[in-house]
Amino acid sequence: MLKVTSLSVNYGFVNAIRNVSVHIKKGEFVALIGSNGAGKTTLLNSIMGLVPKKDGEIIFKETDISKNPPHSRISYGISLVPEGRRIFPNMTVMENVEMGGYSKKRSEVVSKMDEIFHFFPILQERRTQLAGMLSGGEQQMLAIARALISSPDLLLMDEPSMGLAPLVVKEVYEKLSMLKNMGLTIFLVEQNAMAALKYADRGYVIENGRIIMQGKSDELISDNEIKRAYLGKEYKEKWER
Ligand SMILES: Nc1ncnc2c1ncn2[C@@H]1O[C@H](COP(=O)(O)OP(=O)(O)O)[C@@H](O)[C@H]1O
Ligand SMILES: [Mg+2]
Repeated sequence: MLKVTSLSVNYGFVNAIRNVSVHIKKGEFVALIGSNGAGKTTLLNSIMGLVPKKDGEIIFKETDISKNPPHSRISYGISLVPEGRRIFPNMTVMENVEMGGYSKKRSEVVSKMDEIFHFFPILQERRTQLAGMLSGGEQQMLAIARALISSPDLLLMDEPSMGLAPLVVKEVYEKLSMLKNMGLTIFLVEQNAMAALKYADRGYVIENGRIIMQGKSDELISDNEIKRAYLGKEYKEKWER
């Protein structure tokens, strides 16, 4: 569904990502893990068309979209849940969701909205409340709902676990798993490698703007280098003992 080949993005003289290639098949849930500043957001923003590429190709459903503006990529079927969620706190839950559907016909938005509220009962309950009043986990659900209203084939997710308690992270990932089971293709980037690899089918590891490793999630989870670098203190302690 998505094939990124030898993609490079610069900010001025800074190489944010270099020669990055990733591919995602229809229906897959793929994670890209890497530490802060590794280039994860840059890659997603570049797939979405929010930052220009220097080199490389972005093929989506057999078409090179790398010169298309973001709104055209949305109508092609890509949707991004941005880092930090970026909900509009002074608008209601319902208005936030509607914002994601500005390019669609009103009737489509209305029927999709029903479906989405059915999927996120908590948002249904709070649909007339201001989004700023929601908890962090609910705001993340809202950001996902807003991305789903355009009926994407590919959902890009930037650090859904950021700032959330472990139990809430689990709730968010369980929703993503359900969406995957409903046929959605998901590409997610995370610093929280454990959460991402627990739910994703496959993963890539990015360091300093380059992909350094890839494999099935369970292979990556059991890799000693990955454990040491990304899977937290308890792994680090075992590994270094
Ligand atoms: N707007 C920007 N201008 C200049 N440098 C940037 C900008 N955004 C990100 N960078 C740099 O690009 C690199 C990758 O950043 P980013 O993609 O945000 O990483 P991540 O999402 O993995 O934390 C970092 O070195 C970061 O400092
Ligand atoms: Mg980021």
